[in-house]
Amino acid sequence: MTLHATKPHSLTDDFRSSMRVAAASVSLVTARDESGGFHGMAVTSAASLSMEPPSMMVAVNRSASIFPVISRTGRFCLNLMNDDHGGLLECFSRSDMRERRFTPEHWAEGLGGLPTLRGALSVHVCTVAAAHDFGTHTVFFGQVDDVILPEPMAQNPAPIIWLNGTRRHLRAIA
Ligand SMILES: Cc1cc2nc3c(=O)[nH]c(=O)nc-3n(C[C@H](O)[C@H](O)[C@H](O)COP(=O)(O)O)c2cc1C
Repeated sequence: MTLHATKPHSLTDDFRSSMRVAAASVSLVTARDESGGFHGMAVTSAASLSMEPPSMMVAVNRSASIFPVISRTGRFCLNLMNDDHGGLLECFSRSDMRERRFTPEHWAEGLGGLPTLRGALSVHVCTVAAAHDFGTHTVFFGQVDDVILPEPMAQNPAPIIWLNGTRRHLRAIA
């Protein structure tokens, strides 16, 4: 008789696996430093918070290069990526590609000179109203100062969907 040893489950591994099957849209969180320099990174943790007041939240690892900039300036911008922006995702999620993030053709300046992504499905310019540390991350709660939407609004919005560690494409169902 063969005895099959059951593989021990670690909570960390199971948690990581559970995150891989959670589909999420990808945003670029951006900020502007005191010298006018742009900073940014890819996030799936951006979410709407409340209507009263209009507010958004994002969880930022305190080791990320944008973290001290948001902490000091108290401002950030959430740019919801469009499928066409796929090439930027790698640049904004790899530290060794940091220098290639702010290619001028993709960026404009919004309220307060914050970097706003051209062709984004939506842009929320926020002022930090509260911040809460938990584990390795800080959750920034942002009051929305401005919303930029494409003109005209996309009829078939095509966000970048992150699932199982890779990019997926959403197809409109007619
Ligand atoms: C799809 C995707 C989602 C991510 N979401 C987050 C997130 O919500 N919060 C976070 O701190 N890092 C997140 N990251 C990791 C950062 O994008 C990555 O570590 C980035 O390189 C940090 O910027 P830096 O290299 O300038 O420090 C995500 C990466 C990917 C690929």
